[in-house]
Amino acid sequence: MSDRLHHVVELRDVELEFPEKKVLDGVSLSVEPLDRLVIMGQSGSGKSTILRLILGILQPTAGRIFFKQFEISRLSRRKLQQARADIGMVYQYSALLSSLTVGENIALPLQELTRKSPAEIDRIVDEKLDLVDMVEAKKQMPAELSGGMRKRVSLARALVMEPELILFDEPSAGLDPVISSVIDELIISLSERSKVTSIIVTHEMESAFRIGTRMAMLYQGKIIADATPNEFRKSQDPVVQQFLSGSTEGPILEGSKDAVTSK
Ligand SMILES: Nc1ncnc2c1ncn2[C@@H]1O[C@H](COP(=O)(O)OP(=O)(O)OP(=O)(O)O)[C@@H](O)[C@H]1O
Ligand SMILES: [Mg+2]
Repeated sequence: MSDRLHHVVELRDVELEFPEKKVLDGVSLSVEPLDRLVIMGQSGSGKSTILRLILGILQPTAGRIFFKQFEISRLSRRKLQQARADIGMVYQYSALLSSLTVGENIALPLQELTRKSPAEIDRIVDEKLDLVDMVEAKKQMPAELSGGMRKRVSLARALVMEPELILFDEPSAGLDPVISSVIDELIISLSERSKVTSIIVTHEMESAFRIGTRMAMLYQGKIIADATPNEFRKSQDPVVQQFLSGSTEGPILEGSKDAVTSK
């Protein structure tokens, strides 16, 4: 490790252009240890794209992306694998393997990426299931669980490699309001207990204010606000104001619903 101080994640002037359009047009963001950064923005604004860039699944057209001391887009495949082992990802629709039990789903990263013994793996699986209060479901199949239970299991799976960073894509999508508050509370308690930094993509305002220690708003390819929840609430920016109020009046519908129009 070098003696330079590193952010957990840093995006520097990142641009991403698909053949049809430019989605990100100079995004800069940094995430500090133990931050819970919420990224908000309209559907199609590029929120999931930012998570894919951090995971190295997508490459930026311009700009640089760092995870700790690693520049993600410059790593060899093997180094990228290593860096990714320190990043947990909770997908929007849980993404559990339907042919494996809950316990087997959680054990999978440990079997594939570590040399731990079966007994040790089993112990870790039990420990993570206990953290999300799902020990009883260990032998069940994902199809036998409710959406909220599947989400808990995918949280346990994201924690299994003891990551330093967890990325959540719409953690409360498709859940009822009570269960989504439960999941929000779980995200907060797990982040605090496991000392992990997180980035949470959501367009649910209540969740965003509950979970976030910082909030960023993506609009037309740029981060137009990056502040504490309190500052964010008081923002005079018309786009932020409109997003907060959910009003149909304002710049959001007037502009293109797409991220950035192509040149
Ligand atoms: N592989 C791809 N090829 C071409 N265009 C893509 C690709 N992936 C995403 N896009 C486009 O980039 C834009 C941003 O997509 P992204 O999934 O990041 O949006 P989002 O903010 O996560 O939206 P939502 O809230 O609906 O999940 C969309 O217009 C999408 O059509
Ligand atoms: Mg998305």
